[in-house]
Amino acid sequence: MTPLLVVMWSLFYPFSAISPTSLNPATVCSLQGKFDPHFQADGDFIIGGIFPMHYRVEPASENSNLKPAPAECQGFDPRSFRWAQTMRLAVEEINHSQQLLPNFTLGCKIYDSCATPITAQQAALAVLNGPDETQSEVCSGASKLLAVVGESGSAQSIVVSRTLQPFQIPMISYFSTCSCLSNRKEFPTFFRVVPNDDYQVKAIARLLQRFGWMWVGVILEDHDYGRFALQGLMREIKNTGMCLAYHEMIPKVYNRQRVQEILNIMKHSSARVVVAFSGEGELNPFLKEYMDQNITGIQWIASEAWVTASVFTGSEFYPFLGGTIGFAIRQGKVAGLRDYLLSVNPLRYPTNPLVHELWGALYGCSLYPSSSRTQASSQLPPCSGLEPLLKQHSAYLNTSSPRISYNVYKAVYAIAHSLHNLISCEPGKGPFHNSSCADATNIQPWQLQHYLQEVRFTISGEEVNFNAQGDAIPSYDVINWQRGAAGNIEFVNVGRFDGAKEAGKELFIQEEAIVWTGHQREVLVSVCSESCAPGSRKAFRRGEPLCCFDCVPCDNGKISNKTDSIDCTSCTEDYWSNAARTECIPKAIEYLSHDAMGLTLTVIAVVGACLTVAVLAVFLYYRNTPIVKVNNSELSFFILLSLTLCFLCALVFIGEPTSWSCMLRHTAFSITFSLCISCILGKTLVVLAAFTATRPGNNLMKWLGPKQQRFIISACTFIQVIICAVWLITAPPFPNKNSQYHRSRIILECSVGSEQAFWCVLGYIGLLAALCFILAFLARKLPGNFNEAKYITFSMLIFCAVWLAFIPAYVSSPGKFTVAVEIFAILASSFGLLLCLFAPKCYIILLKPEKNTKQHLMGRVVTK
Ligand code: TRP
Repeated sequence: MTPLLVVMWSLFYPFSAISPTSLNPATVCSLQGKFDPHFQADGDFIIGGIFPMHYRVEPASENSNLKPAPAECQGFDPRSFRWAQTMRLAVEEINHSQQLLPNFTLGCKIYDSCATPITAQQAALAVLNGPDETQSEVCSGASKLLAVVGESGSAQSIVVSRTLQPFQIPMISYFSTCSCLSNRKEFPTFFRVVPNDDYQVKAIARLLQRFGWMWVGVILEDHDYGRFALQGLMREIKNTGMCLAYHEMIPKVYNRQRVQEILNIMKHSSARVVVAFSGEGELNPFLKEYMDQNITGIQWIASEAWVTASVFTGSEFYPFLGGTIGFAIRQGKVAGLRDYLLSVNPLRYPTNPLVHELWGALYGCSLYPSSSRTQASSQLPPCSGLEPLLKQHSAYLNTSSPRISYNVYKAVYAIAHSLHNLISCEPGKGPFHNSSCADATNIQPWQLQHYLQEVRFTISGEEVNFNAQGDAIPSYDVINWQRGAAGNIEFVNVGRFDGAKEAGKELFIQEEAIVWTGHQREVLVSVCSESCAPGSRKAFRRGEPLCCFDCVPCDNGKISNKTDSIDCTSCTEDYWSNAARTECIPKAIEYLSHDAMGLTLTVIAVVGACLTVAVLAVFLYYRNTPIVKVNNSELSFFILLSLTLCFLCALVFIGEPTSWSCMLRHTAFSITFSLCISCILGKTLVVLAAFTATRPGNNLMKWLGPKQQRFIISACTFIQVIICAVWLITAPPFPNKNSQYHRSRIILECSVGSEQAFWCVLGYIGLLAALCFILAFLARKLPGNFNEAKYITFSMLIFCAVWLAFIPAYVSSPGKFTVAVEIFAILASSFGLLLCLFAPKCYIILLKPEKNTKQHLMGRVVTK
């Protein structure tokens, strides 16, 4: 079992003029060390086998003063031992077969790679050579070695493939899945009966997507397998919205501190789902530490390398690893495997140290303590070698669903079928130069490579062939780790991934059959941030993966109607967001309607109108009393009528503006007010004239008879009518939807149409009022017990004050308040007029009838 390095003449002097055979073999071919095959069978054609029958190698000493010590392989792997036995079984089967290679025998040489690239290379070199100098065929001529079945781990396969490449010896791997090995330029002689990992990462990405696991951690072995798988997984999830929370490498040489660091990261991450790409050898001590730290609640996703590893089937693993899900290489049938495995025992192979180790591993005993390499085994109780292999030895004896064993079996058959095809070549119809065939007595490995690339055969119902990259057809079983009857872990098949199917339909899973981690039936959630409900949007956090975000509610006027939206969309012009920001609703239309404010104003207007009508009634009733007569009863009636209209025109301002009501509003208002002020103006003129007429030589009253009065009133009002007519014809007021004041509401208002016309109309009323005020002011001091001029002055004062105050309020108050202010001004000024002009008279008429006499009214004039 000592390592051996051979100086390979054929490698270094391939075209040398000196034939190696002409020299003394002892001086040319000397073995640097011994590296014996563990199993060997002679035959016409030799094929090599390399299996990782140990998990690891003790690190070599770094001291260069000493002769390098042989590699110390540790941790016997019964599973891999089973694979090696499967190869022997296949070889024996083929040798007994009458159909396949009937007149030839296959031989094999099986080596241990100890799951380490360096040891694998030693094995590759050893497989090329004979076991010792005398048998060394390499030194004397062509090797009988035609192909190698191996290796298991990708890192080892890479080394083995590079070693075999110069000799063009094809190799078929039964477990190396790294996508890097599909590179035909770098690995031209590499074939495999397992799918390339590109398919597995695709399958894992689909699985993550299927269960909504957007936030996952990745643990990988520090080898090409892990690195390439991580790369592939990152590529697959790139545009799916999933993110990697972390990716950590398990150190090549076990390092407790590093493992604890990784476990800390796992513990503190919010990612509940962890994908592990690692061989069981590396993962085992890592998971032991994981269990020691009592970490639970992690949903493991196993890669094909460990998803069916029997090391983890013990009941102590279930609380931590139960529920694990992963993709396993498809299983097949290997007839007679169980019996074959049962036939292996220490009595049959008394000198084979591996069989002894198998016994040690299975029964915890030692057969020949002295022959065992590990010191620990010498302390084990002795055993006879007659112990029966039982069910509990499943690590070795599990033959119910061979996966890797079946691959080994397939690989051997692929070689046998290729050889068979090569030998059955019809002369003159061969694939080589000039349609020649290969020479069956001196087959070159490169000739076999050609046949391997072309081979196509069926084995236990499955068709086997290799694509241009030497890969197999991708197909996986979905395996779920469930609790068996004894509390142990059982691998339950819950689905399948078929890479040959069209995109999107490859993954089939029986969801209801799955038991998740923690013995749950419900799928666990693994997200960095909870999804954002409609009405909010994602706000990504600086420097963090895209899966981690905050949710911010949409702004006013913007909505998002689906979960996890990236942006809120603005509502169109006439729409606004609802309170939840999930949909756009039509903006509320606002105008002065019959709400509280509208109703109050309506009531005031109606009360005002009624009051005016009441005063009118009183005046009519007392029309023959002096106070009514003296004060120019006709004009008073006119004033009262127009005041009633003034009150009523306030009502037109309340309610939804339509094009008609808009036009009516301003015209009605301006005309009634002009009429009213004109009447008062007329009255002022009359008062002024009446008093000045008493002076001699002044005959003004002649010019102010009732006819003239009516004319003045009509003329003044008519001017306003003309202004309004021009306004209505050129630019009439119209209803307008205004969304300037409030972004969330539309204010339906009457736009004046022409600003000039509007201010013109108001200005005209103002002008009349001012004129009226000045004249009344001049007449206020005129004698008489009841001088109306005083009251007119006062009323005009109020009127003007109200309308002057109206201007700034009108310009500055938004929306429906503009209208309210306008109505308020109308009502206030109307009340002002009504009260100032008529209250004193009503007071005398109704409450002081004794004063309602001609004498009294003229009293002062008379006494003067
Ligand atoms: N499919 C894996 C690979 O290609 C199998 C594997 C991973 C493996 N790590 C291992 C096999 C260690 C043996 C030892 O590498």
